[in-house]
Amino acid sequence: MTDSKPRKTLTLSKKAPSAANGPDDETRRKRSGARARRVAQVHREHEKEAAVAPPAPKHRPPSPEARPPRRPAAKRQPRGGRGEIFTVFAPCPQGLEEALYAELQALGYQGLHKGRAGCHFEADWTGVLKANLYSRLATRVLVRLAHAPVRHEDDILALARETPWERWFGPEQTLRVDTSAIRSPMQSLQYCNLRAKDGICDRLRDLEGARPDIDTVRPDARVHLFLDEHTATLYLDTSGESLFKRGWRLEKGEAPLRENLAAGLLALAEWDPSRPLLDPFCGSGTILIEAAWIALGVPPGIWRPFGFERLRDHDSRHWRDIKEDARSRIATRLDAPLIGSDIDPRAIAAAEGNRERAMLSPDTIQFTIGDARGRVPDCEPGWVVTNPPYGERMEEDAAFWPEWAENLKRNHVGWKVNVISSDLDLPSRLRLKPKRRHPVYNGALDCRLFVFDMVEKQYRS
Ligand SMILES: C[S@@+](CC[C@H](N)C(=O)[O-])C[C@H]1O[C@@H](n2cnc3c(N)ncnc32)[C@H](O)[C@@H]1O
Repeated sequence: MTDSKPRKTLTLSKKAPSAANGPDDETRRKRSGARARRVAQVHREHEKEAAVAPPAPKHRPPSPEARPPRRPAAKRQPRGGRGEIFTVFAPCPQGLEEALYAELQALGYQGLHKGRAGCHFEADWTGVLKANLYSRLATRVLVRLAHAPVRHEDDILALARETPWERWFGPEQTLRVDTSAIRSPMQSLQYCNLRAKDGICDRLRDLEGARPDIDTVRPDARVHLFLDEHTATLYLDTSGESLFKRGWRLEKGEAPLRENLAAGLLALAEWDPSRPLLDPFCGSGTILIEAAWIALGVPPGIWRPFGFERLRDHDSRHWRDIKEDARSRIATRLDAPLIGSDIDPRAIAAAEGNRERAMLSPDTIQFTIGDARGRVPDCEPGWVVTNPPYGERMEEDAAFWPEWAENLKRNHVGWKVNVISSDLDLPSRLRLKPKRRHPVYNGALDCRLFVFDMVEKQYRS
């Protein structure tokens, strides 16, 4: 392994990456997930969130007095014109709130504050599109369209009926509604979901003579109903498929990380994109591919479709301009080596396939077959960010962790070693004292990102 060669990619062009919502150049330079460094201690909250799949559509006719007045579709308010500002919520994996806040701040967004598993901010419509394109850590970008106190399921119906959905979609679009709740006193979330859907469909049928069909698989429009103890919020989902789906992953390997969690780990680890990065349990290559995109300034959404493209009045020319601008800023060279290895040849084949689909040439990330216990870096010290195997099999293999730790202590002096694991006893298995433990969820798994500084003293002792 060497870091002396400049690294090239198959990607597109020359300049530094751009930022969303028109911040100045200085803000742009601070933009990427990995540079979102101001990561403080994160809060862990364990409120239950119950997400329900929408039930089969069942129409309940509303009372006549609840009907909104008929309005001709031609008088729809145009969206996003003249600086209309939207209240936005971007959910993220739990534990990445601070990092997402820092990312959105660096992107130039205003009105930021952290919420449970996400961040609130304000943006004009262009800013909403750019948040989808540029955020590496968000899972979705949700625009708040209605918010009110609710005491009964019928209040949800009324709220949905008085929300001007016709600005965004109509009978020509298909629809999906999802509901989640924290501490909501409502009896049945399925019924709440149905009430929201009925309210939306009734309004559109009254205004436009027909209602959208429900499509739970590939809907054109998605609405999220969020309930808490006293209120309901209706969000328009502008992302469509979750934002961690960048479009390059076909090959999954064993227990792959979601792409936005991988980017979040790099942010929590405070990886410097000009320094080497190793992942000795790289699996399908998620951490290193995310790292390459961060270092090159490839916007994570550059090659995928978004939900907003299928909404009414989508300005495809404006969107194309935003993407053109983003593409023109992608760098062509990496400053430092990105090196992955895995004991399983199938994982390495998957990583290579993913690298290719991520439009990265073979010299951007070096993937090799190898046992982490025997890998010796031959570049200057940098970062290890890795997601080793977990589960009963590993807990029973008592020799594995001391052997890997021995390699770290002997051959990684000066490296910052960041390990995500659901095994909260990992530091004692490694006999290493972590400098920090970041609580973070990998899906439903309560994990820690353990940060170890490999200093010479540790090896001597
Ligand atoms: C949890 S998975 C990593 C998934 C990866 N982060 C991704 O997103 O695809 C753990 C990986 O460790 C690999 N592995 C298990 N034992 C190993 C060893 N001794 N040396 C290197 N890799 C090993 C497995 O093959 C597996 O791909």
